[in-house]
Order: sequence, then C-alpha cells, then structure tokens
Amino acid sequence: ATSFAQHTSDHYGNYEKDRQTKSQDVLYTTSNGVPMPHPYEAQRMGENGPLLLQDFHLIDLISHFDRERIPERVVHAKGSGAHGEFVCTDPLDDLCSADIFSAKGKKCPLTIRFSTVGGESGSHDLARDPRGFSVKMRTDEGNWDIVANNTPVFFLRDPAKFPHFIHTQKRDPQTHLSHSDDSTAFWDYLSQNPESIHQLMILMGDRGIPDGYRFMHGYLGHTIKLINKNNDWVYCQLHMKSMQGIKFITQEDSANYSPDYSQKDLFEAIEKGDYPRWSVEVQTMTPKEAEELWEKQKINVFDLTHVWPQKQFPRRKVGEMILNENVRNYFAEVEQAAFNPSHMPPGIEPSADPVFQSRLFSYPDTHRHRIGANYQQLPVNAPRTGYMPGNFQRDGQMAFFNQGARPSYLSSIEPIRFRERTIDLDKAHSHFTGNAVSFLSEIRPEDFNAPRTLWEKVFDDGARERFVNNVAGKMAVCPNKEILKRQIAIFREVSDELAKRLEKATGIEGYEGIATMQFNGTHNGMAKDQKL
Ligand code: HEM
Repeated sequence: ATSFAQHTSDHYGNYEKDRQTKSQDVLYTTSNGVPMPHPYEAQRMGENGPLLLQDFHLIDLISHFDRERIPERVVHAKGSGAHGEFVCTDPLDDLCSADIFSAKGKKCPLTIRFSTVGGESGSHDLARDPRGFSVKMRTDEGNWDIVANNTPVFFLRDPAKFPHFIHTQKRDPQTHLSHSDDSTAFWDYLSQNPESIHQLMILMGDRGIPDGYRFMHGYLGHTIKLINKNNDWVYCQLHMKSMQGIKFITQEDSANYSPDYSQKDLFEAIEKGDYPRWSVEVQTMTPKEAEELWEKQKINVFDLTHVWPQKQFPRRKVGEMILNENVRNYFAEVEQAAFNPSHMPPGIEPSADPVFQSRLFSYPDTHRHRIGANYQQLPVNAPRTGYMPGNFQRDGQMAFFNQGARPSYLSSIEPIRFRERTIDLDKAHSHFTGNAVSFLSEIRPEDFNAPRTLWEKVFDDGARERFVNNVAGKMAVCPNKEILKRQIAIFREVSDELAKRLEKATGIEGYEGIATMQFNGTHNGMAKDQKL
C-alpha cells in the first residue's frame, strides 16, 4: 500500500477504531495532531497580559467549541437510540422480493431512534405526545428506513397542513410559551380540522404517555406496496409489536419522573442485558380488496387517519428486531442519524398516500440542511451492502468518501457495473389518470367510527375517566371558549356521553354537533347546508 493508504486505514478511515478508543490509548494533541503538554494553558504577553493570536492551541479549541451544535431536528428533536439486529423468522417471498424477507434466518444490523415530537432536544421525554419510532435496517440491498410512530394514525391526511399543525405544537411566536401553558393554538387547530379526532383520542388516552420506549408498539401508519418476483403487488401496513408488552404512565405520575426517564430506561436496560424486542408484522391487501374497502366501508387506504380492520386483514409476522448494543457516542450515532422514508430496497415501494409522498421529499431535504450534503457518508448513515456501492455524486462540504479516481460521469472507457432490473415498474405500478386538481379532503361520518370504538369498546371505565381528565386539564389552559365549544362538538360526534362528561368537567357547553359548523381547514361533508 502507498503511504497515504496506510495512513487512512490506520487512522481516519477506521470508524470502529475511533469508536472504541480509550483515553489511555491517545496522546493529547491539537486538531492537526501536534502534541501539547497541557489543555488548560494559554499564551499571554507576560503573566497579566493579553492573549496571543498565534496561540493555535487555544483558538483551535474555542473555535471548534463555537461550532459544536448542528440544528436540532425541526420535529422529533428529543430522542434516544441504540443498535441491534433484524432477523427474518417467517419469509415473505410470496408477496415481496426484498432480500431481507427472502429466507428464514436472514439478518441485518439496524439502528433505532425513538423520540417525542413537539419538544426541543432538552425537553421532557414523558411528554404527552406521539412517539417517533425510526428504524434503519442495513440490508444487503441498501438501507431501509422505517420512519414510524407509536400510533397507527396521524392528525392529518392533507400534507400541506403539517407545518401549520406542528407550529401549534411549538412555542408561541410572541410569548414563547408552549401548549402546556397556553393551549389556544393547540385546540384552535384541532377544532378546525376534525379528521384529527382519531389521533387525538389516542393521544389523550393512556397510550399518550408510554412508560419509556420499550413498552410501546410502532406503526408505519402509511400504506406501502410490496412487490414480488412476478411483479404482483399488494398494499401493506407495517406493525412493530413490543414483545415486552404495553405500559403507560398517567398524567399525574409523569411529573414525578426525570426529563430523561425514557433515555435512562432504554440505556440501562440494554446495559444490563435486558434487550428489548419487537415482532415485525404486516397486514396486506390486494388492490381489489382496497377498492371494495372504500366502496363498502368508506376506508381509503391512502388516508392516514384510518386503520385497516384487523379481523378482515389479519397481521402476519415476518421477523423480530432486537436492540442489544448501546451507542458509544450519542452525537455520532444518534444525533447525526438521518432516517428517510424514501429509503426503500427493491420490492418495497411507496403508495399514493399524499402525506407519505410529501415525506419522501421532506426528510432528505431537511437532512441536507441539518447535517449537510454528504450526510450519507457518515458511519451511522452509510449503507453496508453485499456489493461496493458507487455513483456519480461528488464533492460538496465534507466529501470524505469521494469515490477515488473513478470517472465522475458515465464513462465508456471505465464502465461502471449495473444490476439487471429485478422489478418491472410498468407491471408493478398502479396506473393513474386524471386531470390536475387542487385537493383538500372533507369530513365524513366514517371519520368518527374508529374514535367511537375506542371510547365505547377499547377504553374501560378507568381509561375513560383518565381521558376526560386529560382533555379537561388541557382545555383549562385555553382561555378562548369559542374554540372549546367547537372541540366539544367534535367530541359529540364521537359520543354524546363523552361530550356531556367533558361539559361537566370543563363547565363549557359545547355545540350540538358539526352539522352547522364551518372549518377553515377542511370541507365539511357532514354539513346540513352544503355551502359550509
Ligand atoms: C422527523 C417532516 C409526518 C414520523 C421529521 C423531520 C421532518 C419531518 C422535517 C425531521 C427529520 C430530521 O431532522 O432528521 C414530516 C412531514 C410530515 C411528517 C413534512 C407530513 C407531511 C410524519 C408521520 C410520521 C412521522 C405521519 C409517522 C408515521 C417522524 C419520525 C421522525 C420525524 C419518527 C424522527 C426521525 C428520527 O428519529 O430522526 N418529520 N413528517 N412524520 N418524523 Fe415526520
């Protein structure tokens, strides 16, 4: 090897070596490797004089410190992560040609990051908030990122609402107060966008504060597509079921725990060998069944506020995930991790769900901003494939692996290798025709079916009591009564009993129902007067 090759493999090229280094293995140096006798010394003009600009050691130290922070994630900023493995237990090759599902025992390394949504990176990780559940599976055919939540549905089904909704979860532009102190924007948004009711019922119920990250399920929520070797395809919902079971913490109790409760719980469990596991399961549906589901039950598979009935579409297990290794460096292995729903290996494809489609754009876009154009080169993000990946992306800031001397264009002199197409896109894709339309969804009676089942059948008496208290507590910090009257009307569409109990708990009389209401965020398909 050349002396340069020797240098890079000994030193910078070896992330694992860096990761395992102990203090006694290293010699204290400046960033350019010059040994220094003590880190606290500074060069001055005499013992009482000003500092010297020539003191590279001090400037090196402070200027790097000045640049330590990268922007925190715009959502899901508070999080915890660990490494582990996925193992395929029940092959799915009849439905999906992804290599990772092809055979029993097929494995891949993975990294998982859990998070809350609205709070900053220093906020409480027992907040009443959905939990993020992101998985990076390093399969032999490239990385597959499952960027999921602990709830099977979401607050919205029209993608342009997302920044608006998130802003209502963040601090007020003037007072800088969060919604725990002033919930006006929180209820204003929800009372103008009733399709949020299903997710709101889950959020305000017991599942709104899971007991750490080990005792919760994960759901992609979006419909994706699985394609097999014959180019036949099915729609799919992905579930990650906690093999530890489900536990929750009540609103009152959550105040008694440290802000890093979930982080500590996960780290300590893994440290003592109590490795958490999840069973990975799929629901699948043929395109014909999807059409029937819409015709008969008015459930649209591209609508993220609805779930697929499990009796009609039972879950099928494909594998297990285990977290068995703590990170050695939080920043390098969790903060710099970039999960992206558009990372999918061959055999797995997006559906036409418009919220999912917009996420396919949003994540890599924010990663380029948050981490930089070459974020895929960072060890935690880099693929570990069965072949050496290569392409024609070059340069940019921090281009560490810049693909050597290989031509940076499609050269005929030094041709790159290609793999044959494994999926015939023409056959495997749905066919869409239509004129361009500006679309905004509308509220329908079916939007209240699943929330009503939650209230009437899934919650027991204790859960209903806690639910009413949680909602009333959140309403108590909203001074705008008109907003709350609207929100109670939305709860009345779920159950009149629920609305009455909220009226009692809050002392506010809600409207009769939504038939006479107009919404700034959605069409009202349940309006008496169709102009509303
Ligand atoms: C994080 C956008 C909906 C789950 C993020 C981030 C953005 C974003 C910009 C920060 C990513 C980063 O800095 O690395 C959006 C948009 C959405 C949307 C535009 C809708 C239009 C959803 C939904 C889910 C979800 C429906 C769950 C099903 C997550 C998770 C993270 C995240 C788990 C944290 C990723 C991590 O651990 O690094 N989202 N999101 N998001 N989002 Fe979304």
